[in-house]
Amino acid sequence: MPESIVELRSDTFTRPTPQMRRAMAEADVGDDVFGEDPTTNALQERCAELFGKEAALFVASGTMGNQVVIKSLTQPGDEVLIDERAHIVTYEMGAPAAISGVMMRGLPSRRGVLDPDVVADSIRPPTPFANHTALVCVENTHQASGGSVWPLDALRAVAKVAHEKGCVVYCDGARIFNASVAAGVPVRDYAAEGDALSFCFSKGLGAPIGSMLVGTEEFVARARSVRRMLGGGMRQTGVLAAAARVAVDTMVQRLAEDHENALRLAEGVAEILAGSVDPDQVETNIVFIDVGDREALDIVGKMWEDGVRMFPYSPHLIRCVTSYEVGREGIERAIVAFRDAAVR
Ligand SMILES: Cc1ncc(COP(=O)(O)O)c(C=O)c1O
Repeated sequence: MPESIVELRSDTFTRPTPQMRRAMAEADVGDDVFGEDPTTNALQERCAELFGKEAALFVASGTMGNQVVIKSLTQPGDEVLIDERAHIVTYEMGAPAAISGVMMRGLPSRRGVLDPDVVADSIRPPTPFANHTALVCVENTHQASGGSVWPLDALRAVAKVAHEKGCVVYCDGARIFNASVAAGVPVRDYAAEGDALSFCFSKGLGAPIGSMLVGTEEFVARARSVRRMLGGGMRQTGVLAAAARVAVDTMVQRLAEDHENALRLAEGVAEILAGSVDPDQVETNIVFIDVGDREALDIVGKMWEDGVRMFPYSPHLIRCVTSYEVGREGIERAIVAFRDAAVR
């Protein structure tokens, strides 16, 4: 990416840092399908410890992680409760139906945060005549709500009712470190409220590829078989795990900068187009800009010519995601480009 490009479409555009590239080149490797890749094994142990869980499993992507978990924790015909705008519901190609044969039942939420009473009322126990709710999924941070963070108490309340009613709880924590840094909540506290959690190395943490599942030994053993079934058993994964290790060891605390930059972007845009963004709702690194009756595609197209890249999320909505690739100067350039494209 040339220096002059301000890449705000997604934090997945982040490229590995020089330290990651060095670690990848030097990684000690083995065959991970045999469980013999030392770098991957060390990363899994480190992540299990960090999240306070018994075991961890490296997978190729966030989507693969979600699908491995769903298949590992359900039976065909089971029902899964989830926020109706979750990534799993919208962006994973119907995989829960195609791969696991489960019914996804979307619930309304307040910025991605489910209401424990709604969850309690929605769970159906096993009977011979109605769907059986087996799993409750949450997403923290919640992408479609602009990177909103689950308050720990809210998560606790939902997990409590789910467990009381015999369900297991899974957190799609693709950006769990953003939640942790923003809320000052250790990731192990979030993980403690669920039976399984996944997170991505390849978003704001900057690693090129990979996600991690954490949970019990029993869950991880099952997930390992399912991963293999889906073609996700990879060989010398140490080259990927080495970059992921640098990500988790060095790139977490700096996420606070991305959050400050997202806030600055939101404030700048709100001054240009009143009502298009509420900076008070920007909790982490994602900013949605509602351009009203203007066309998102037009505005994004004009900014592209100025080297500023934003994502036309829907006809009148633009998404920006900050990352270490975009410093404060890039944010100020983006604000100017937005003014030129949207107002002039
Ligand atoms: C909340 C959430 N979960 C899962 C994923 C899937 O990750 P991947 O694109 O690596 O499959 C994403 C990707 O953006 C996401 O935002």
